[in-house]
Parts: sequence; structure tokens; C-alpha cells
Amino acid sequence: MKIGILGCGNLGSTLGRFWSEAGHEVVFASGRPEKSAALAQRHQARSGSYPEVVAECPTLLYTLRQVVPQQLCPGRWAGKTIIDCNQPDLLPGFEFKPRGHSLAQQLADDLPLCQVVKAFCLHPVELYHHGSETLRSWGVQSFYCGNLPEDKEKVRQLALDLGLLPFDCGPLSRAYLLEAQADFWRMFQLHQGQALVSQLQLVGYPEPADFQRQPSFEWPGAGGPKPLPTRESEAEAPPE
Ligand SMILES: NC(=O)c1ccc[n+]([C@@H]2O[C@H](COP(=O)([O-])OP(=O)(O)OC[C@H]3O[C@@H](n4cnc5c(N)ncnc54)[C@H](OP(=O)(O)O)[C@@H]3O)[C@@H](O)[C@H]2O)c1
Repeated sequence: MKIGILGCGNLGSTLGRFWSEAGHEVVFASGRPEKSAALAQRHQARSGSYPEVVAECPTLLYTLRQVVPQQLCPGRWAGKTIIDCNQPDLLPGFEFKPRGHSLAQQLADDLPLCQVVKAFCLHPVELYHHGSETLRSWGVQSFYCGNLPEDKEKVRQLALDLGLLPFDCGPLSRAYLLEAQADFWRMFQLHQGQALVSQLQLVGYPEPADFQRQPSFEWPGAGGPKPLPTRESEAEAPPE
């Protein structure tokens, strides 16, 4: 996959590096061309200006928090898959205020001819430096949401290549849930200082055999609760 990395800070440089190592064609773009050129040289990738990279790459990782896309590049966005990994600025005193609009939805509003997928906002950048084999052995999960299956499939593959177990969380309107989930994690790491590298883990416990469910509740789909995806099931059978 050809993927443009917009912004070469902590997350952009790290994900770009590991995707390049996984065999993807990575092109870095930065406000400082010498920075993106150095990264490209170090990680067998290429670099370019923001307008060049936007024009060239069908898939773009957008790491610039609350920077409007037209500020980077006035046109050439139509038809792109935009991966939004951003989280809101942390407020003084770690006040996590409810927000009406997710950052991903804002980006989608700014880029109406693109498909935005919210992804890679949960894990701290340090985690990826363990490498894909270690993350795979730990069963580290990755949550994403977006509107079209073809864009989500790209993100699913990119997550697998980082060693993550990807979970499709539905349409982009749910991005606020992923951003809140990441804030919940940031509360533990950055405010309470409880772990440098941690994760939330979705676990599917079985229902007790003798549990009598109220008739008012019905499981979505037939046949009761389904098992959560595992690395094996995800790798063998991509979602429809
Ligand atoms: N770091 C993490 O652990 C982590 C984890 C999950 C999600 N996130 C989210 O991912 C996003 C990026 O995080 P990060 O840690 O990579 O941040 P970062 O190190 O500050 O990198 C962001 C990059 O965006 C560019 N940039 C930022 N503000 C800009 C502006 N006003 N104008 C032009 N360019 C600007 C800069 O790129 P150049 O230096 O190349 O010019 C900067 O290095 C944030 O929204 C963050 O909340 C971060």
C-alpha cells in the first residue's frame, strides 16, 4: 500500500517506520523538509512537501491535531482515505470535557470528498516500538471506525502489519467513542502516572448456562452472543 504520513512527530514517524518495515511504500511530509528527508533515508521511504504527498498517496495518515487540511494543501484531497489518529489537546488539570463533535467527524466535514477512518488513537507511541511480533504475542487490540468497507479494510491491514488485532467499531459517527476511550487511557497514563505503556482489553466472557434473560432483550443477529474476533479468525476471514 502507498501511504503518506502527514506530520513527522512522534506518531507519524513511528507508524511510518513500522509500515515501511512491513513492506508498504511510505512517503513522509513535514513542515520541515529536512526532517522528513532524514526519516525517509533512515526508513527506506521517500519524502515530499504536503501538497506532493497528498497528491501522490491514496491513503494518508493525518497526525496534525486541529490543523485544517486546506492549510497544508489547498486542493487534491478528493477520493483519499484519511486515517485520523488525533486526540484533543489535554486541558490544564486533565479536565476531560464532553465534546459534541469528534475530531474525526470535524476532519470529514473539512474533507467532504474523502473517507475518514478513525484509528490508532488509543495506544501510546511507545507501544509500537516493541515491534509487531511482541504486540502479536500479547494480543494487543486496535479499534477503528469509518463508513466504507474498502477504506476500513486498508486500516485493518495496516493494524495487522503493526502486530495489532483489529476491531471494526462501525460507522464514523462512533469516532467520539474511540476518542473518549483514548482519553480514558490517557487519564491513567498521563494524569495518574499508572503505566507508561498499557492498553484497554476487550474480553468476551461466556454467558452462564442457567441465566434467564429478560424477553425484552434480544441479541443482535441470530444465535446469541458471538465470540470476539481472535488473531486467527481475523487473519483468515476479513469482515464483509
Ligand atoms: N504520541 C502518542 O503517543 C499518541 C498516541 C495516540 C494518538 N496521538 C495523537 O496523534 C496526534 C499526533 O501525536 P504526536 O505525538 O505525533 O504529536 P507531535 O509529536 O506533536 O507531532 C505532530 C506533528 O504535526 C505537525 N504539526 C503539529 N501542529 C502543527 C501546526 N500547527 N502546523 C503545522 N504542523 C503541525 C508537526 O509535524 P512536523 O514536525 O513534521 O512539521 C508535528 O511534529 C495527536 O493528535 C495526538 O493526540 C498521539
